[in-house]
Amino acid sequence: MNFSIIRVARTILNVTDLDKSRAFYVDALGFIETERTNDHIYLRGLEEAHHHSLILQKAEKPSVEAIGYKVEKEEDLEALESFFLSKGMKMKWMQEGTQHALGKSLRVQDISGLPVEFFSKMDKAERLLQRFDLHRGSRVQRIDHVNCCVTNVQKAYDFYVKELGFACSEDTVDESGQLWATWLHRKQTVHDQAFMNGIGPRLHHVGFFLPDPLAIIHACDVLASLGYAQSIERGPGRHGLSNAFFLYLRDPDGHRIELYNGDYLTSDPDTEPIHWDLNDPRRQTFWGAKAPDSWFDEASAVLDIISGEEVTLEEPILAKSKPEFII
Ligand SMILES: [Fe+2]
Repeated sequence: MNFSIIRVARTILNVTDLDKSRAFYVDALGFIETERTNDHIYLRGLEEAHHHSLILQKAEKPSVEAIGYKVEKEEDLEALESFFLSKGMKMKWMQEGTQHALGKSLRVQDISGLPVEFFSKMDKAERLLQRFDLHRGSRVQRIDHVNCCVTNVQKAYDFYVKELGFACSEDTVDESGQLWATWLHRKQTVHDQAFMNGIGPRLHHVGFFLPDPLAIIHACDVLASLGYAQSIERGPGRHGLSNAFFLYLRDPDGHRIELYNGDYLTSDPDTEPIHWDLNDPRRQTFWGAKAPDSWFDEASAVLDIISGEEVTLEEPILAKSKPEFII
C-alpha cells in the first residue's frame, strides 16, 4: 500500500440539544471547548494540539456522521482514493473549507458500511497538558479509539489489516473458532479501531484516554454530583482484553463514551496478538462482573456519506450476540 494512516483522530456525533451536550461533555467531563458555532461544538482533550477530536453537531436525530482518521500527508488521500476506486467503494471528496478547521478530506463507506473519512490537515490548538488550572472533571487527555458493531468481523479484519495496514493486538473467538471481535491499531497502543460482532454497522463507543485510573473514579464522583449518575452504564472496572481501566457513559443522546486508561505499547512488529475465548469472563471484565445487556444491545446509528440517511442495519453472521459466563 502506498499510503500511511496515522491514527483515529476525530468523530462527528449528531446530537439533538447542543446545550445539554455541552453540559455533559464540557461542564461534567472536562472536555476543552475549542469553538462553538450555532450548530457545532468543537471539543478536544488536554494534551491534544489540534483543533478538535470530537464534534457535536446539531441534528434532528442522534447519529454518527463520520469517524475520522489522520493520514501522514496530503498525497496519501489521492492514494487512498485510487485504492477505494479499485475496490468500487462509495466515496466523496470534501474540499478544504467545506469542514471547519479541516483540510480536504476523503470520505468512504467502508467494507462494513461505516462512514469513515481521511484527512491530513487540521488547524492547531494550544496543548493544555500543563495548564493544570484548567483540568476539570475526568481530565480527558485525547481520543484513543472507536469501537464499532459490524455484521462480519472477519471481513472487517481482512480489510483493515490486509488492505489498510492495521495490526491486530488482541481478538476474541467464539466456540467454533470464528472471529467475534478484533482490536486493531495504527498508532502504537492496543487499538484505534475495534470491531465486535453485532447488528451493524453501528458505532458502539468512542474511547478517550485519561491520565490515570483515579481520574476515572473522580469522573464518577463529579458525574454523580451533577446529577449524571444514570449516565454511568458500566464500570469502573478493568478489561481483561487490553488491560484498560474503563468507564462507559451514555451521553444525553445515548451515544456511548468510554473513559479509558492503562493499555500498553504495541510498537514492535513481532508483537503477537492475544487471543481470548468469548466466554472467558476475565476477557471483558478482569474482575468477573458482567456487562449490562444494554452494553451489548444498544449502539449509535451511522449515516450514508452521500445521502445523509441512516445506513440500513443487518443481522450479524455469528448468532451469538453476547457471551455466556461459566461462573
Ligand atoms: Fe473501548
